[in-house]
Amino acid sequence: PVPVLAIDGPSGSGKGTISRAVAEALGWHLLDSGAIYRAVGYAASMAGIDLSDAQAVTRCTETTRIVFRDPKDGGETRVVVNGHDATDEIRTETCGAAASAIAAIPAVRAALLDKQRSFRRPPGLVADGRDMGTIVFADAPYKVFLTASADERARRRYKQLKEKGLAVTLSTLLREIEARDERDATRKVAPLRPATGALIIDTTGIPVDAVIAQVLAVVQP
Ligand code: CDP
Repeated sequence: PVPVLAIDGPSGSGKGTISRAVAEALGWHLLDSGAIYRAVGYAASMAGIDLSDAQAVTRCTETTRIVFRDPKDGGETRVVVNGHDATDEIRTETCGAAASAIAAIPAVRAALLDKQRSFRRPPGLVADGRDMGTIVFADAPYKVFLTASADERARRRYKQLKEKGLAVTLSTLLREIEARDERDATRKVAPLRPATGALIIDTTGIPVDAVIAQVLAVVQP
């Protein structure tokens, strides 16, 4: 089977940055599963769907077209939702909260399984998410769980959103992220937790390069 490196963890744990760097170093494909949940949350919000209406959100999940497009000149992967480039919109914390709401619906998660698994192609896949090692790629030979203190995670996310020119305050963001973490950790379906056998890395105060090296060592000891 095609090897998978599952990288799970809460918001701001560094998953996105680390996954991208490690995928590049290995020459493997990359799955940003959070972007898929964000895209569905975005599509449902745009359609005016009540996010607690499980049936309507599930239908929306089944009909939303999500395409990842790599620009020819390099640069950030574009996320195209029903033909509209929503790359920047899906990164807002409003969309993060919408993603977290729809991600708690079991039928939504089930509807997204095949799409996520279709990213598993030779020579390998780095899968970034919350249930990569526990559910979607439970058979993955390599598993990592990244964490960091809530303060540090909020600070990292603050910096990212600022760089994108989005207006946020650190204290609001900290509150929003804590609420989202709480929901993700306590939901009935696929609650966030380290997979059995995952290497747990606390990235608080650790430079990105050092974390990348630790994660790479899991695949290439
Ligand atoms: O970037 P950040 O880690 O803050 O979030 P994300 O990975 O883009 O995911 C956004 C939301 O989608 C999370 O808060 C989860 O509720 C949900 N999600 C999930 O349930 N399962 C995944 N594999 C990925 C994301």
